[in-house]
Formats: sequence, structure tokens, C-alpha cells
Amino acid sequence: MTLADIVYKDSLRFILSGGKGGVGKTSCAAAMALLSARHGYRTLVLSTDPAHSLSDSFDQNLSGGDIVPIQGVDRLSGLEIQTEKAMKEFQQSLGDSKAGPEMEAASMLLGDVGGMAPPGSDEAMAFGKMLEFIEDSSYDRIIFDTAPTGHTLKLLELPELLDSWLGKLLTMRQRLSSMMSGLKTMFGGTQQEDTSWETLKKTKEKIRAARIELSDPDTTQFVVVLISEAMAVFETQRLLASLNKWHIPVSHLVVNQLVPENVDCVFCSRRREMQLVNLADIRDLYSDLDITEVPLFDTEIRGMDGLTRLGDILLGNQEEA
Ligand SMILES: Nc1ncnc2c1ncn2[C@@H]1O[C@H](COP(=O)(O)OP(=O)(O)OP(=O)(O)O)[C@@H](O)[C@H]1O
Ligand SMILES: [Mg+2]
Repeated sequence: MTLADIVYKDSLRFILSGGKGGVGKTSCAAAMALLSARHGYRTLVLSTDPAHSLSDSFDQNLSGGDIVPIQGVDRLSGLEIQTEKAMKEFQQSLGDSKAGPEMEAASMLLGDVGGMAPPGSDEAMAFGKMLEFIEDSSYDRIIFDTAPTGHTLKLLELPELLDSWLGKLLTMRQRLSSMMSGLKTMFGGTQQEDTSWETLKKTKEKIRAARIELSDPDTTQFVVVLISEAMAVFETQRLLASLNKWHIPVSHLVVNQLVPENVDCVFCSRRREMQLVNLADIRDLYSDLDITEVPLFDTEIRGMDGLTRLGDILLGNQEEA
């Protein structure tokens, strides 16, 4: 099995490309997005990494905060999520809807403190955008270029955390509001309609739906990218354990940057030897997963030519490695 099983699977709506820093997540996300659009799916490639590099990969500016069509490819658009812009939109939406006390509290928690974004808000905003696109039927396929492991784990932990947090909040709110309405009736006050209650319930439902979608292997696949070095293998183990805990489907690994055979270069041969030892361990450890090997290119992977070449290898058209 190759990545073609994922990229060309009609029912699959979300592909996440993730792993340790610098291993090739963005390149793989961009290459899979190209394959997907060229195959006929209306595709959006979305970067959730605050240190974006999708623009560099496509050699096109995607940092404006709005979705941009990728030049030269039909059906493909891209976006680097700009946390600050998303935060402003979020706060504006709270102001506009005359939000209730919970939303005001959430707004404070999420960034009204002296204009400073608190830790974790990057993930919260990225997740908010994910929710928005999960519901959006203008795309058949959304490919997420994620941040290095730690940040992405925080992002993927959010649905569960928020679901239970909102659940508690709603219960609390229900108790409070029945107490308040009792008091109001006692003192002859009038009942006011409270829309924040509905907003919260809807948000909770959206998160529930997202959790179901993100844990369905027919809809979602997380492609783990790694390099053949011990430290990347350790990090992959931690990442896989967390993905497993949150029921996010994984069936493919991409082992990237394998040094090609070159008898004339002692340095290259040594690195290759080291990588082959680790590759054998990777095969042993993950015998239940499909593994695609990608050679180290003699140039950086950038722009359509490089991404097309990488896409070809991801489909199993292996170059000499
Ligand atoms: N197989 C390869 N051969 C040659 N260069 C590669 C290969 N894979 C990735 N690169 C290069 O390595 C660099 C890092 O790749 P990329 O940005 O895709 O990694 P990343 O995992 O997204 O990094 P970050 O953690 O910083 O987001 C880029 O310059 C890319 O062109
Ligand atoms: Mg990247």
C-alpha cells in the first residue's frame, strides 16, 4: 500500500501531515495537496503552524489571512492561519452578538489581557478555524500542514478538553439560570431571551461532530513524517501514542531524507549506513503501518517541480535511494 490509498480515497476529507521539526511535514502536505487537486478534489491546504512555511514551499504568499488560489493548479487553495487576525475576528464576533458572561469570560481568557495572547491561544484559534472548515462543504479535501509535535498535540487535545469544559459550563449555566428565573419570578421581573446559551450548545455540538469526523479512518488520516534517526523515532513513538489515545487514525509513515547510495562519498555512506540501521528498527516497530521511503533530494523541495517530484515518490514511484 502506498499513500495513493489515502490521497485518492474519495471519502477522505482530512489529511494531517505531522511529526518532528524540520523532517518534511510542509513539503509532504504541499505535495499531497497538489496530487489531491490534480486528481479532481477541491482541495484546501491549511497551515496550523505559527511558524508558517507553506508560502515558501509553494513559492507564493499565503500569509494574508484569506484563502488564496494556488497559481497554476486548478481546484487548489491555501491558507496560513494568522492567529492574531483570527483572534480579532473571534473577539469581534463576541462583541457583535452581545455575548453572555461565558463568552466574555472566554474572551478574557483568550486574549483581552493587556492585548497579550496567552499561551495556548495559537492552538485555540487554529482549532476554531479547523471547526469552521470541517463544516465547509466548498472543499472535498482539507490538508493540514501541522506544527512540530508538541504544538500539534496541544491542538489535537483541544476537542476533548473543550467538549468536557463546555459540558461542565452548560450544566453550571443551567443550574444558575433556573435559580435566576426563580428569583426573577419571585420579584416580578420579566424573562429575557439569552442567546449565549444557544451559542454554547451549538459550539459543543460542533466540537462533538469534529471529534467524530477526526476519529473516523474513512474521513481522516494523520500521515506521520520522520527521518531515519533515533531521536525522530523516539518522538514518533510519543506522537503515535497520543494519536492513538485520541483515536486519530494513522496508517502511513513517511521516512524522509534517506541518503542515496554513493560509493564515492565516505561521509554519505556513513550517514546512509546509520539511516539503514534506524530504518530496520522503524520497520520492526511499525510493522502494522505502511512505510513510504523518500530519498534526500540534491536540491531543496520548493515550487511546483520539486513538489511534483515528491508527490510522485509518495505515490510509490520510487527513485533510487
Ligand atoms: N527529501 C528531501 N530532500 C531534500 N530536501 C528536503 C527533503 N525533504 C524536505 N527537504 C527540505 O528540508 C527543509 C524542511 O522541510 P519542511 O519545511 O517540509 O519540513 P517541516 O517538517 O515542515 O519543518 P518545520 O518543522 O520547520 O515546519 C526544506 O528546506 C525542504 O525543502
Ligand atoms: Mg513545516
